[in-house]
Amino acid sequence: MAKERLDRVLGHLGVGTRKEIHKLARAGLIAVDGVVVTDAAFKFDPSLSRIEVAGESLVYQPFFYLMLNKPAGYVTSTKDPHGIPVTALLPEEWQRSDWMPVGRLDKDTEGLLLLTTDGELLHRLTHPRWKVAKRYYVELAAPATPEDVAVFAAGTLELEGERLQPAELHLGSNPRQVELVIREGRFHQVKRMFAARGNQVTYLKRIAFGPLALPGDLPPGAARKLLSEEIGALYDAVGLGRGE
Ligand code: URA
Repeated sequence: MAKERLDRVLGHLGVGTRKEIHKLARAGLIAVDGVVVTDAAFKFDPSLSRIEVAGESLVYQPFFYLMLNKPAGYVTSTKDPHGIPVTALLPEEWQRSDWMPVGRLDKDTEGLLLLTTDGELLHRLTHPRWKVAKRYYVELAAPATPEDVAVFAAGTLELEGERLQPAELHLGSNPRQVELVIREGRFHQVKRMFAARGNQVTYLKRIAFGPLALPGDLPPGAARKLLSEEIGALYDAVGLGRGE
């Protein structure tokens, strides 16, 4: 890995602002490989070095990953000036400016939203080429029908002249409460698919994204870091071997 400035590395790890990091360095509180570094512009390879701040070791991580149970009323975009961004739900210690949501959820949609700082993983998880399954729990104004199941499965449905990939509609005992699995992520896709069938979505919640299901113990509005095996499963789902 290339060498990076100390203030950049520590900023990335959430130690503080540039100004705060410069102050810590000047105070002699930062050590790299056991040697105190007072110059915040010092360059080194963070993946090979041991970093300590005020006596505490930091584990270098190139990227960060969270899952959030999105409640209704928040916007997925971190830049939208017309709503409260989902990142406002994160605790202070996880606030950072480079979070990217993995795919969009509408303001009124709830459920599993992944956030990462890893651009390549984000790109692949949201690109139709990788056909990553997104599973939704859907409540409908009118019962879904076996014909809906067949039309969605056939991949013949078109939105604005473009054909959608086959999707799996699962009808349970109540056909107004169904599950739909799609493998692309067009704008308002689930709502528009049912609208194209003359129906209306009254409630929408994403319950799984690729290999990860929304955990039953993650309440609406709460977030947690992804476990290392969950990150590995996401990488595997899009052909990215970790460490390669
Ligand atoms: N499809 C929709 O219509 N809305 C969402 O938020 C996600 C998928």
